[in-house]
Amino acid sequence: MEPVVLSLGGSVLITDDDDVAYIKELASVLVQVSSKRKLLIVTGGGRIARHYIRSARALGAPESLLDEMGIAVTRLNARLLSVALGERSANVPPNDYDEALAASQSHDIVVMGGVSPGITTDAVSAMLAERAHAPLLVNATSVDGAYTADPKIDPTAKRIPKMSYDELVSLVSGTPSGAGPNIVFDPVGSDVVRRAGIILAIVDGRDIANLRSALLSEEFRGTVVK
Ligand code: UTP
Repeated sequence: MEPVVLSLGGSVLITDDDDVAYIKELASVLVQVSSKRKLLIVTGGGRIARHYIRSARALGAPESLLDEMGIAVTRLNARLLSVALGERSANVPPNDYDEALAASQSHDIVVMGGVSPGITTDAVSAMLAERAHAPLLVNATSVDGAYTADPKIDPTAKRIPKMSYDELVSLVSGTPSGAGPNIVFDPVGSDVVRRAGIILAIVDGRDIANLRSALLSEEFRGTVVK
């Protein structure tokens, strides 16, 4: 089965807006998709990671420790999604790409969090897609695609349905790659999808029907980068 990688933003998974109902519905759709495609999922840390990072930074922790704490939260979110997926996925998230690829031999769905300090789960998902030879990476985020400006701030911002790798890289360049930036896809991950020629689909993760279409390479609302 052809693999597809899903980068699931922490802000999508955990919003406090009836997360349990969302996670249940998401898991049931992911299980359906996994009968057609091998699913490799990377969960982000969202506001819970930001809470720990902010608090520990204020207490004087070094940046690399903040990254470790962020990674711990991304792995906790992976475990939460794994609970909803049941026996289709392994209970304990893989620690690195090799472990993820090994787990994908025995499970239809693999869910992992972050792996190493200094990057975000967007970059992890792009590197996992490269390692797994996945032709498609779906980024489920809190907006329905890449926009000409931040749509939450600028009402005249327009969604960009299609863009090239170079356009993506120039859109995200100059944005900070540290803890918690709210950008459509991080700069490191953008470079990786460009070098590996992986199609990147950016979708609103709370629109589960649309996310399903993107995972199955059907028509969807969002942004395609290729
Ligand atoms: P995220 O990938 O969740 O960052 O990792 P984010 O940009 O805040 O994304 P959203 O909001 O969930 O979509 C949270 C933090 O964990 C650390 C980084 O500090 C990151 O900002 N992290 C994560 C790592 O250091 N390495 C990793 O491999 C993953």
